[in-house]
Amino acid sequence: MTDNQDQFRNRRLGFIGVGAIAEATIVGLIQSGCNSPVRLSRRNEQRSQALAERFANVTVDSENQSIVDHSDWIFIAVLPQQARAVLRTIQFRPEHRLISLVAGIEIAELQTLAAPVGAIHRMIPLPPIERGVGPLPVCPPCSDLGALFANCANVIGIENESLFSVFSAASGLMATHHLFVWKVAEWMSAQGVNREDATAYASHMFAALAEIECHTPADELAGLADACTTAGGLNEQALQELRELGWFEEPQTRLTRLFNRLENGL
Ligand SMILES: NC(=O)c1ccc[n+]([C@@H]2O[C@H](COP(=O)([O-])OP(=O)(O)OC[C@H]3O[C@@H](n4cnc5c(N)ncnc54)[C@H](OP(=O)(O)O)[C@@H]3O)[C@@H](O)[C@H]2O)c1
Repeated sequence: MTDNQDQFRNRRLGFIGVGAIAEATIVGLIQSGCNSPVRLSRRNEQRSQALAERFANVTVDSENQSIVDHSDWIFIAVLPQQARAVLRTIQFRPEHRLISLVAGIEIAELQTLAAPVGAIHRMIPLPPIERGVGPLPVCPPCSDLGALFANCANVIGIENESLFSVFSAASGLMATHHLFVWKVAEWMSAQGVNREDATAYASHMFAALAEIECHTPADELAGLADACTTAGGLNEQALQELRELGWFEEPQTRLTRLFNRLENGL
């Protein structure tokens, strides 16, 4: 356990909704040293049971109200279309803190649904949090949450909820990224490279490039593409051909559509 997390040893954490992203968050937290008591809703039972068997500080509870009654910080991680009905069945107290992972429901509405809860934050954990990496936008910023997650994520505090939706929209390109990497590997395999070598090459190449991007100052990121091209070389050719197709404008068009959807309540 680290100093960061030692201060939360007696802070009881509750999770309502134990799906894909809650599981990744719980695993990331505990593997990074958090040993606070963690109480999980039974659904999804296979996941919650497996987590309770894996970690000594995790227990499963059948009743959402009981999770809230026995927790200090409550994370809600059900689907957007389930969240309102779930929150309406729960009674919070002013000393509770509610942390919503649910996309598209704003703090003002959460305050009504969870009254008289004392504090509300929204955050966007991503699947890699399970491996102790990746960004974690938190709105509004919270030093306690920042410290709790400091060892498994790069916490980014965001004051403005509309800007928070910008981060949420950007997270909508994860699947596109994975498919892009796969398409490179698939093409290599089709040329005769064995599948293991092709997938290892594509995934490690993009991971290595991401490593450079993460350590590049913001005002230099735009120049990375041109910096790794050689005049008359392969990268220059691909970049130019894709630019001529308008290929690089497409992600921003999609992001605007995702943002608008979020702003309109999904
Ligand atoms: N996936 C991501 O990368 C990601 C990233 C950031 C934020 N989010 C947000 O996180 C939330 C969860 O996403 P997810 O991908 O983890 O979805 P998911 O895998 O479908 O998880 C939702 C979980 O909620 C459970 N549930 C439904 N009703 C419940 C109730 N009344 N009481 C307790 N549990 C209940 C479901 O159980 P059953 O299976 O039994 O129905 C399911 O296990 C969404 O709001 C999403 O916007 C997701």
